[in-house]
Amino acid sequence: MAKDLFVAKSSELPDGERKIVPNGNNEIGVYRVKGQLFAYSNLCPHQGGPACEGLLMAQVEEVIADDKTYQGMRFNHDDMHIVCPWHGWEFHLDNGIACADPKFKLRKYDVVERGDEIYVVT
Ligand code: FES
Repeated sequence: MAKDLFVAKSSELPDGERKIVPNGNNEIGVYRVKGQLFAYSNLCPHQGGPACEGLLMAQVEEVIADDKTYQGMRFNHDDMHIVCPWHGWEFHLDNGIACADPKFKLRKYDVVERGDEIYVVT
């Protein structure tokens, strides 16, 4: 049966921040980015590293002009990545799927804000 896990008061998780909360034998990382909340198991599917303790980075894209010339690289802030601190695997913030191999993903949880409190549904 699903239960709600208290994460924080809303004011304790401002935009661009994360909070990691205990959940049984594991932890859950909760992010607020551009007003949206996301929650993932803090357990990397590669070798069990604490994925949610890593950097949150924008997708790096190569820019190719219409004439096929290389124009350099840019950050795409609409596709943020969670970067596991152990070996650098990256996961899309919006769905937890590994960028390099979609067979792997972080376990995603529903996260809700009720009044001025944030909860993960476990
Ligand atoms: S344990 Fe996360 S990248 Fe290896």
